[in-house]
Amino acid sequence: AGTAVFNEEHQYWSVFGHEGVKNIHTDFEHFSSQIQPPSDDSPIDSSILRTDPPRHKLMRATVARAFTSRVIEQMESSIERLAGELLDQAGSAGRLDIVSGIANPLPVTVIAEMMGIPQGDRELFKKWSDDLVGNDPARQMQCQEEMALYFKDILKSRRAQPGNDLITALIEANVGGGTLSEIELIGFCILLLVAGNETTSNLISSSILCLESAPEAWEQLLKDNSLIPSAIEETLRYCSPVQILERRVKADMQWAGNPFKEGQLVLTYIGSANHDERVFDEPERFNIHRRPNPHLAFGHGIHFCLGAVLARLEARIALKALLNRLPRLRRTDNQPLERLDSSMMFGLKRFIIE
Ligand code: HEM
Repeated sequence: AGTAVFNEEHQYWSVFGHEGVKNIHTDFEHFSSQIQPPSDDSPIDSSILRTDPPRHKLMRATVARAFTSRVIEQMESSIERLAGELLDQAGSAGRLDIVSGIANPLPVTVIAEMMGIPQGDRELFKKWSDDLVGNDPARQMQCQEEMALYFKDILKSRRAQPGNDLITALIEANVGGGTLSEIELIGFCILLLVAGNETTSNLISSSILCLESAPEAWEQLLKDNSLIPSAIEETLRYCSPVQILERRVKADMQWAGNPFKEGQLVLTYIGSANHDERVFDEPERFNIHRRPNPHLAFGHGIHFCLGAVLARLEARIALKALLNRLPRLRRTDNQPLERLDSSMMFGLKRFIIE
């Protein structure tokens, strides 16, 4: 079903290729999302992302309604307005950093509004996202602590004064006759605020990265905006914001002829799956006409990204705004492009255009 390689030094499996990665994500009976045992110090480990069935299904139902196409599409005009305002503010200098000008602030502003938390804390959220997906475990733990304190306060005030927002919906959700625990609530908030933003920001800036080096595709998009959705799908495939996911083997088994042992960690390489020549013709070509495009950038199976509709909408709106406002944009920075310090994610630190 796929290719797996064992890392002797660190004792984990790496799974490559489309079929193998998809298989691991489909097979939640054998591969658990619970990477660490849940502990009070790490809300993410108690979040939906790290929970297996049957509780996973109950947790997912709490806010799934808020992320359906019907609900998200109603937000289109307000997100368009926001994209316009951000470019107005950023564009006056003549030079624009796509990352800090639109790619970062757009998703964080939208989700902060959905959650009912102060947009003024945007810089703080950004710092937390960078730390959380970065490669420094000490910083990851520290920022989880800071976020936990922040959300404890918000949860307290929202319990006293419910609003019409996601945090209130999470607090009030009926989960199998009970409610979400405090740590599950905090984990959910962190996931919504941080994990979804960082990835969407990276998708937006990567779309410009890909298109800036494909002038023909840029011209086609200028003439025909209806190609924008497939350009975003191709960016998701070509520069997948999430590069690696994790699972744990639940019990000894043979997987594609390999002896997987109970408790071993399995890393699935989304980037490899999305560049698999057995599934994608000329995988190294950025092709905005690619159809079908069965990339795995949002994962697969029961944990398939809850925010996919929102992320796609935000990326389409941002790309459209940039195409219309800056049809002749060019990268002007002579410095080498710098990748975010993360092996799990792909994104740029900055991308300066004129
Ligand atoms: C799950 C990617 C945006 C919320 C996932 C997973 C992936 C992913 C690969 C599956 C994880 C796994 O199977 O272990 C992305 C990418 C995004 C994006 C590439 C942007 C381009 C968002 C946004 C939100 C969001 C905007 C919400 C505001 C979630 C949640 C889960 C999830 C809550 C957990 C779902 C579950 O466990 O059932 N995402 N995501 N994501 N994503 Fe996203």
